[in-house]
Amino acid sequence: MAISYNERERVFRLDTPRTTYLIGLADEAGFPAHIYYGRRIPDDDMRYLLDAPDTPYGSSREQVSFLGRLPSEYPGSGRGDFREPCLRAETAEGYGACCLTYVSHRIFGGKPPLEGLPATYGGAEDCATLELVCRDEDMGLEAHLYYTAFERLDAVCRSAKLVNVGAGPLRLTQALSACLDMDGQDMDVITLHGRWASERMIQRRPLAWGKQGAGSQRGISSHEANPFIALAEHTATQSRGMVYAMNFVYSGNFLAQAEMGQEGRVRLIMGIHPAGFGWRLAPGEAFQTPEAVLVCSDAGLGGMSRTFHDLYRQHLVRGPYKDKPRPSLVNNWEATYFDFDTEKLLAIARVAAEAGVEMLVMDDGWFGRRDSDTCSLGDWTVNERKLPGGLPYLVGEVNKLGMKFGIWMEPEMVSPDSELYRAHPDYALQIPGRAPALSRGQLVLDMSRREVRDHVYEQIRRVLSSANIEYVKWDMNRPLTDAASPALGPDRQGELAHRYMLGVYELQERLLRDFPHILLENCSAGGGRFDPGMLYYSPQIWTSDNTEAIDRLKIQEGTALVYPLSSMGAHVAACPSHTNGRVTPFATRGLVSLPGCFGYELDLTKLSDGERAMIPGQLADYKNYGWVFRTGDYYRLASYGENGTHDALMAVSKDRRVAVLDYVQVLSRRTERTLLLHPEGLDEGRYYRRLDTGDIRSGAGWMYGGVPMPRLEGDFAGCLVVLEAADH
Ligand code: DGJ
Repeated sequence: MAISYNERERVFRLDTPRTTYLIGLADEAGFPAHIYYGRRIPDDDMRYLLDAPDTPYGSSREQVSFLGRLPSEYPGSGRGDFREPCLRAETAEGYGACCLTYVSHRIFGGKPPLEGLPATYGGAEDCATLELVCRDEDMGLEAHLYYTAFERLDAVCRSAKLVNVGAGPLRLTQALSACLDMDGQDMDVITLHGRWASERMIQRRPLAWGKQGAGSQRGISSHEANPFIALAEHTATQSRGMVYAMNFVYSGNFLAQAEMGQEGRVRLIMGIHPAGFGWRLAPGEAFQTPEAVLVCSDAGLGGMSRTFHDLYRQHLVRGPYKDKPRPSLVNNWEATYFDFDTEKLLAIARVAAEAGVEMLVMDDGWFGRRDSDTCSLGDWTVNERKLPGGLPYLVGEVNKLGMKFGIWMEPEMVSPDSELYRAHPDYALQIPGRAPALSRGQLVLDMSRREVRDHVYEQIRRVLSSANIEYVKWDMNRPLTDAASPALGPDRQGELAHRYMLGVYELQERLLRDFPHILLENCSAGGGRFDPGMLYYSPQIWTSDNTEAIDRLKIQEGTALVYPLSSMGAHVAACPSHTNGRVTPFATRGLVSLPGCFGYELDLTKLSDGERAMIPGQLADYKNYGWVFRTGDYYRLASYGENGTHDALMAVSKDRRVAVLDYVQVLSRRTERTLLLHPEGLDEGRYYRRLDTGDIRSGAGWMYGGVPMPRLEGDFAGCLVVLEAADH
């Protein structure tokens, strides 16, 4: 069992293969305190790290500074710890001080699900869980702190359940998921930021006094910030140094923050953003926070990424496509936008089928009177003018070509110009008496209400039952505003944003339950909800509306810092790029898309003969090597974001027999020297044949000597280098 309790020391010990996490019960009172998280250590007494005074808390005249210094596992507020708390709550009278002490604990194999929420999962053979029950007696509030340690992965997953055990009502105003108090010397903060069409840009800055981090109050995890934060040793690289990371299994408002205060100590916290949050707890009621995943790596950022990738691929993603190849697809969005009909789609499908593409995805514009983005969201009935014979005919024809069929929907939205809005204007999020703010001309449905969800689900069910549909792209194109629901009552409006997310999760769960064969791809105006919460429902997510290959290098690098390559929708798009007008070779666009869930996003009927002829080769690469990216270990060998000239990533199969290196020369190099890239993760003693040259060398030879990149002509060129185990 990865978790144990030392009764004499009153210390809980969580071990993963290379890390140890120690929790102490400080003072007689039993404050849940953080002792240590880092490289695995033997069973030493580490309580000196608490730096706690000898005087018992009860008789001390310095109780405030004791709590102010104590490294805490789940800090309350108003009693002396003035750093960002995990917990703020109020009694009916409006009193807010709260501080937790130990009540009891339970250690057991496996991991319980979080009701209504996405979460990592695992059986007793995979992980063990500690449930640490603490209480503030005066307030009548109990916190059940959950810690799951994985047996084969260096990950600890945390969440908290807050229970009103008193006689009066309580109101939570801050209920975060995890806290990590540690030494902050010589650390950098790493976060992922961006905007639409430029998501998850890596930002690394020195940890400084005060608060730094990322957050979203948009009701979605957002393009602007991703629910991820890491502290890395200043000297940490891709392959060396300590990194402590947190990632939030949630798709709504979040706060991820590092706060450096007294004595150079840092507090890392993660949870639902407290701004605007409020949750009423009647006696006996409980609130479950979403889960935060903690990863500690002593092998630099690469080690951190590989742990997240393995954890998410094995213990978060579900369904039939978890370990299956994802079908290559062609999506008509950038090919036609709203201007399509059955014939246009079938023309694209014919070229696609002939080249070997496996699925046609029909994007926005097939329903209601939707010829532009000004109407019809909410009216999920086929536009027979565009698609005579409806979905049965179109899907039947696509199937006859030997292809699967997928469809786009935006279930959370309603257009003011729609049958749905005319019938049920109250279904939209709104404040009574105030016109809700439009974005992309549309409004958000109130997913906190069951009748709204039931209505939407019935429409989804009818569409998906009407034809042989095997894939759904679930889009969501605007943030939440006027985030209120008359159905909730005046004292519960602070619950809306979270209840909205719970509603969306419930809908997606229903869809997966009733249509288990469907491959779901989440999307939010590109990559506005690329988070682990969504990955629980859809094994892949549309990475960005920016489909231009060179911009994509940075977007995909930032994404792969945390999320597995198998989760990134990546398509070869039209040229000049619809996003930025750049012209790049078809082959390079293929190379950039290859590591993700591969597809085309252009009018295949308009390709030149030469380009069309390249498709079978690209699909063969996807078939032959896609599985290495999807299931193997990811190594970042060169970052265009850092060097400004070239980019290289590599995946090594788990049995270390195949390694695939994806290289892009962004700017050509006027130099006589050959560029050497140093692979990682090969078996030192095994021999590998480089397929394009036939050279055979040991893993050690390739890794330490380097793999020479071929000389490529001009900007935006690239190549794939494959190393395969060879008998020597
Ligand atoms: C935003 C998505 O990211 C695009 O791929 C496309 O589906 C459009 N919405 C359609 O409105």
